[in-house]
Amino acid sequence: MRVLALESSCDETAAAIFCSERGLLASEVASQIAIHRTYGGVVPEVASRQHLTHLRPVVDTALERAALRLSDIDAVAATAGPGLATSLMIGLSAAKGLALGLKKPFLAINHLEGHLLSPFFPGDNEPFSEEIPPALGLVVSGGHTLLVDIQGFGRYRLLGTTRDDAAGEAFDKVGKLLGLPYPGGPVIDQLARHGNRARFDFPRSMLDSGDFAFSFSGLKTAVRYLLPKLPDRSEATLADVCASFQEAVVDVLSTKTLAAARQAGRSLVAVSGGVSCNGRLREALGAACAQKKLTLKLAGGALCTDNAAMISFVAMHRLTRREFSPITMDIDPNLRLV
Ligand code: KG4
Ligand code: ZN
Repeated sequence: MRVLALESSCDETAAAIFCSERGLLASEVASQIAIHRTYGGVVPEVASRQHLTHLRPVVDTALERAALRLSDIDAVAATAGPGLATSLMIGLSAAKGLALGLKKPFLAINHLEGHLLSPFFPGDNEPFSEEIPPALGLVVSGGHTLLVDIQGFGRYRLLGTTRDDAAGEAFDKVGKLLGLPYPGGPVIDQLARHGNRARFDFPRSMLDSGDFAFSFSGLKTAVRYLLPKLPDRSEATLADVCASFQEAVVDVLSTKTLAAARQAGRSLVAVSGGVSCNGRLREALGAACAQKKLTLKLAGGALCTDNAAMISFVAMHRLTRREFSPITMDIDPNLRLV
């Protein structure tokens, strides 16, 4: 069976084809970052117009890469939420139209479930498995910070989330404060590599709160108040601010993730979302999991940031279970995981 999946929840227009026998056949992403960078963030109106322009070409390229025609597709899926309403609409409407035209099932997929399960995406030459092992999931993206007890496919228990900014949002807002290009996350990651992470002592909010809630807005404010007090604005000082800020985020994320795994009784930790690209987060979680004898599964590079491959993987699970969505199903910009 082959599923075509579309993803257009924010500023990436993506299409992927997943085959139950051969795994991922194609994954195309048209990024709009260059355009949004000129505005310092994602402009919804611009994003939806870009989705309209890019959608058809990414679908055509995905079919070409997979050496398939639309008539070879067994189901059509798209992200239904959460995300920007006007962006979600483009992908979901296109998928519905394709499903209707092809007379094939339609599958509306939760973007967060896509991220959450992306660490379980089969590797090259690995067969698709319906099995999702019990694990503690950490999703860290531009819009979400979630700790989830994964009991199996479709069985999730939310342990904690953020009270204010998401982890990626904190990176992007601090990037803006530092005058770095959008999105700040990858740039801070790069600059921090040459910085001293112990130079500035930033707050680790809610570290001792005894629950799995996060808060990153105080940390952003602490960076803001530090800036006028800096002795200089040299590249070395900027690198130290980035490394110290990043260390505070990583410290809170890894400490709470390990505590949640312990409380949920999980020996497997699955980490996903754009922020999981972060080099220091990957390193720190690797060391912490090894010390506690936990197995760490990180989403693969291209699967961390928004893509349609992760949507196609969840869609294949739904297709094998014949859990189809009604064609009348609408987008839900505030769709929750559980
Ligand atoms: O998962 P994603 O592509 O989109 C959402 O669903 O939000 O995540 C985007 C977020 C942005 O905030 C971006 O700055 C952050 O992921 N990000 C990073 C890194 N790469 C992307 N944050 C820290 N370090 C990185 N290397
Ligand atoms: Zn995402």
